[in-house]
Amino acid sequence: MADAPHGLDNGLTNYGDKDFARFLRRSFARSMGISRQLLNKPVVGIAMTPSGFNNCHRSMPDLVEAVSRGVLAAGALPLPFPTVSLGEVFLNPTSMMYRNLMAMDTEEMIGAQPMDAVVLIGGCDKTVPAQLMGAASADLPAIQLVTGPMSTGRHKGQKLGACTDCRGFWARYRAGTVEEAEIKTVEGRLAVTAGTCAVMGTASTMACITEALGMALPGTAAIPAVHSDRLVAAEETGRAAVQLIQSRIKPSAIITEKSVENALRVLLAVSGSTNALVHLTAIAGRLGIRIPLARFNQLSDETPVLVDLKPVGDGYMEDFHAAGGMGALLRELKPLLHLDAIDVEGRTLGERLAEPLEWVDRAFIRAFDNPISPVGGLIALSGNLAPDGAVFKRAAATPSLFETEGRAVVFNGLADLAARIDDPALDVAPNDILVLQNAGPHAAGMPEAGYLPIPKKLAQAGVKDMVRISDARMSGTAFGTIVLHIAPEAAIGGPLAAVRNGDIIRLSVAQKRIDLLVENAEIQNRLADHRPPPAPARGYKALYRHSVLQAPEGCDFDFLAKTGVFGDGTMPK
Ligand code: FES
Repeated sequence: MADAPHGLDNGLTNYGDKDFARFLRRSFARSMGISRQLLNKPVVGIAMTPSGFNNCHRSMPDLVEAVSRGVLAAGALPLPFPTVSLGEVFLNPTSMMYRNLMAMDTEEMIGAQPMDAVVLIGGCDKTVPAQLMGAASADLPAIQLVTGPMSTGRHKGQKLGACTDCRGFWARYRAGTVEEAEIKTVEGRLAVTAGTCAVMGTASTMACITEALGMALPGTAAIPAVHSDRLVAAEETGRAAVQLIQSRIKPSAIITEKSVENALRVLLAVSGSTNALVHLTAIAGRLGIRIPLARFNQLSDETPVLVDLKPVGDGYMEDFHAAGGMGALLRELKPLLHLDAIDVEGRTLGERLAEPLEWVDRAFIRAFDNPISPVGGLIALSGNLAPDGAVFKRAAATPSLFETEGRAVVFNGLADLAARIDDPALDVAPNDILVLQNAGPHAAGMPEAGYLPIPKKLAQAGVKDMVRISDARMSGTAFGTIVLHIAPEAAIGGPLAAVRNGDIIRLSVAQKRIDLLVENAEIQNRLADHRPPPAPARGYKALYRHSVLQAPEGCDFDFLAKTGVFGDGTMPK
């Protein structure tokens, strides 16, 4: 390699004697059985995230081996290293609380260890955002590999995939139309392979967004986790990482305002997860790029929904891959994209899309002029209940509820919700609006509690959807007429905290508004009595409460965002 990088000589440990530090490092590296010849090569770090608590990363050992093979074949030394791993369903109170911890871990380990480029391997919901946030801040040449989506299971002739079908069966079980014996059988048939949720949930949306940003190799977002092509993609990712050492293309050259808009177009065209907007905002924020909600709405009104996957449509990620995947989708969106954005290979999007398309299955990827919907799947809302914004997935909602005025039925937190939602005495009717307070970033780490269950007595009477609003998030695999991410959140005195049982709330999708129909003076009067919940006294949770930003700022920590300041107003050093 002509421009030989420093490999293991990067960032020598400081003993006050550089030559000794180099001698010591190399002798300890030899203890791992690595030859002198390889120790002289450039180094590709592999941020790996296996965990007994992360089923979505079960294939990690095979992926690390395949990436390493590619790195070695291209003439560099692969050195895998572990970071925090976040398995969505195994974390309490919510994985969201630990995304920033993983991002810090990733950033610091990229910066502290001697490597010339890094391959990031993640998949489950928070892992890819965390890795991209960390890599953007470290700004060393980096490339993302995702673990890939699960393949579907079968039940009585029906395809099943986590986790839209989990929710469908559970709703029917709650309504009494599915027996206990069947729900136990279904439990074993929903998640049947390694990989991430099988639908266009958060993990799949983030995989597509990552490819649209240019941070992953073309065509790799949707390859099923257990397909041999996933291992080939891993090997090619290893080779590409070595090329990145030579090209010196850094995340800051790839993640730009243009590539972020390309990623937003993809989010809207796949009717992706609302969570992805928070994550993309945080990733972009690491490089000082903002996503104004007004611009998001402008993009949404111009971007058609072209992909027909659950939770909105019928297909699964395996269908999207077989239908042509991201290559086919990006070609349809071409008139709307910034074609001069570059990717990890240094190619422009225009160059990539100039190549002929092998195949597209229109059952899952529609033509631009024959969309599923002429407008994007998500919009931002504003109004006196959400002065800093809220998010609404119109593609997953019930159109007959788009213009609703209803009576508020208020739950003041997660414990209150759990205690009363199925109470037969709960005063609730189908056209009421369910309101959850104190489930935002400060109050609760922003769990996926925004998909409030339909009260049991209404579910048993056949009610399938109601307007639900909160400062929480919702799983990307969920659906319903649900207003999320209300900011400012109730716990810091946002107007959501002022809602009382019986107040009238108006949702207008046409006007992109969510309003509390109570006099402003009365709202202010109620908020004057507001007290924030007590803060955790110590440890990471105390840091989180002190520093987490609101959803429109990606829920990043104030001191990690590019333009950030510490909570006390000082600038990061
Ligand atoms: Fe990991 Fe859904 S639980 S992607």
